[in-house]
Amino acid sequence: VAADLLQKLLAAHAFNPAPREQELGGLHVPFDDLLGAPKHEKALADAVRRGERVALIGPSGSGKSSLTEHVLGGDYVPGVAPIRVRVGLEPPEVVLDPREFVRHVVRTVAKAVAAAGGRDARKARRIAREVEPHSRRSVKVGLGGGPAWMTGNLLVELGGIVDDEGPTGVDVLESALLVLEVIAAAGLRPVLVLDDTDHWLVRPGLDDPGERIAAFFGPILRVIAERMSLAAAVVAVHDSYLTHPAFADADAFLETRLPMPAVPDSGSVARVLAHRIRRTAGPAAAARMDDIMTPAALARLYDNYAVGGRSMRRQLRIAHGALVHACDAGHDRIDVGHVDLAITD
Ligand SMILES: Nc1ncnc2c1ncn2[C@@H]1O[C@H](COP(=O)(O)OP(=O)(O)OP(=O)(O)O)[C@@H](O)[C@H]1O
Ligand SMILES: [Mg+2]
Repeated sequence: VAADLLQKLLAAHAFNPAPREQELGGLHVPFDDLLGAPKHEKALADAVRRGERVALIGPSGSGKSSLTEHVLGGDYVPGVAPIRVRVGLEPPEVVLDPREFVRHVVRTVAKAVAAAGGRDARKARRIAREVEPHSRRSVKVGLGGGPAWMTGNLLVELGGIVDDEGPTGVDVLESALLVLEVIAAAGLRPVLVLDDTDHWLVRPGLDDPGERIAAFFGPILRVIAERMSLAAAVVAVHDSYLTHPAFADADAFLETRLPMPAVPDSGSVARVLAHRIRRTAGPAAAARMDDIMTPAALARLYDNYAVGGRSMRRQLRIAHGALVHACDAGHDRIDVGHVDLAITD
């Protein structure tokens, strides 16, 4: 019965508004499909393929991470090597001092090498050489805990440049360049992914974010542009930075600006929810979308999205809330009343 279906969705966390990063890409419905124009996934993929620095501009919850993970984790750009540089919990020097930022990038690669089993990889290669000194076969090693592209000889080579502490060489800029060169020499396009800028530029308890915004969009983007130009970059930029005077500096260093779209209609919200249902509860559940939510409930969800600042995360939170209310009431379909309750929660 339908009420069981709603219970099943609830148990599957179908409308979880904050999925894990590894899940985001698979849950994403391409904006290009929703809007019927190749202005987002394709535009991002093309820019990355050209090695550009791209700003994804949009408010919190608008889908910047979702789009990034979908494009960089999918088949859009063959041979892409994303390096996810997180700075949210790092000391301020990392976003204030370009050298410290570069050191952090190398440290990020070092950690990924360790997670991918880089040390074992080095050992395995040495043993392989001792056993078969003339073999030129690539050594298939790796623990699978690192990025998907970090395998085989590339992993071994990266392991030789960085160690768990960070760069082994003295000059951190040279180490960073070497890392990028080694990746590029393997036929891959390194991409620096700077997706958590909100959390480090504008932190609660940090009254003047201006210094960080100025440093990041000035000297740090400059060092990426001028010293790490082998890498493409994808930078999540919150709407509110656009009017910040310090953001003006970024113009010179960000080649492509992609504003996050607003989805056009309630049908788009339905497609996003149906895809969630498919991924979490299976295709049979997704095919019963009409049993799950009334058209009026979908329309109410969309109206709320339209006035609520383009936040897909908020839509999912409300959809989840409406699902909870429908289940609590023992109803077999999510209706407008459940959505209204969720909106006022
Ligand atoms: N096109 C889409 N298809 C399916 N789900 C989407 C889409 N865009 C966003 N979402 C969902 O909306 C939620 C918010 O998206 P996301 O985390 O990408 O926002 P964001 O712009 O990165 O926000 P923040 O600035 O807070 O990091 C996630 O649960 C994500 O799965
Ligand atoms: Mg995000």
